[in-house]
Amino acid sequence: MSDLLNPPPDPSSPQRAKGEPRFPGGPAADPAGSHHERRIRSFQPRRSRVTTGQADALERLWPRWGLDIDGQRVLDLPTLFDGLPVVLEIGFGMGEATAQMAAADPSTGILASDVHTPGQGNLLRLAERNGLSNIRVANGDAIILLREMLKPDSLAGLRVYFPDPWPKSRHHKRRLIQPEFLDLAAPRLAPDAVLHCATDWVPYAEQMLEVLTAHPCFENTTSDGGYAPRPGFRPLTRFEGQGLDKGHAVHDLLFRRNDRPSGHSTG
Ligand SMILES: C[S@@+](CC[C@H](N)C(=O)[O-])C[C@H]1O[C@@H](n2cnc3c(N)ncnc32)[C@H](O)[C@@H]1O
Repeated sequence: MSDLLNPPPDPSSPQRAKGEPRFPGGPAADPAGSHHERRIRSFQPRRSRVTTGQADALERLWPRWGLDIDGQRVLDLPTLFDGLPVVLEIGFGMGEATAQMAAADPSTGILASDVHTPGQGNLLRLAERNGLSNIRVANGDAIILLREMLKPDSLAGLRVYFPDPWPKSRHHKRRLIQPEFLDLAAPRLAPDAVLHCATDWVPYAEQMLEVLTAHPCFENTTSDGGYAPRPGFRPLTRFEGQGLDKGHAVHDLLFRRNDRPSGHSTG
């Protein structure tokens, strides 16, 4: 009876203080707080159901393999990844493709960022199950990660696979791949490092090609200046599979970071 009157606290109860983890020792609910908040965001904050397995992974593995994007410190990537070159992936979703890429190339570290709690738990679970030590899971807005927490020239690559397409015109300002994003990303990439984008939304692919081609810090790796053939190292992603089921065409774009042209200032 007393158990019914005093049920154990629900670990995902909304009674938490702002920023407090939903799971003990897990990712913070609002890691950067209002100080670093962006008004126009490329994601829709949502509270999604977390399975028991994902919750278990978040509680056990987050302290070791997770980090909050709090905008309060600059990351030492060589220390975090035991000296491996590091590629940043923005928006890994449920993380299946990320885990596959990490398994296929253990000599590259993947800093995998997303705001989606079930996906963070899922990726931690996949990393443990497959014995992967080259993944770190970053919780929060990757824009704050790029802007506040990464050193110049620190990334060996940047992957943005199937970013939210925001198809309505009034939402286009939420799309991630824009000139301002490229200004932020370019100086964090080492010279010659590649930004790899993929999308199943043709108008977004066209926008990506246009802004990347126009940006002075990036150069198309494809000689005809168009889309790239899908590289063998990119697995089919969950979102891509859904797009293909709807008959969407998929486009990959691979652009190399130039040496910074003189006179062009980037953030
Ligand atoms: C359409 S889903 C694609 C997921 C995965 N790449 C795939 O192909 O299945 C886009 C993901 O990007 C994440 N996202 C969007 N903006 C982000 C940002 N600024 N920082 C981190 N993650 C972001 C969303 O939470 C979402 O999980």
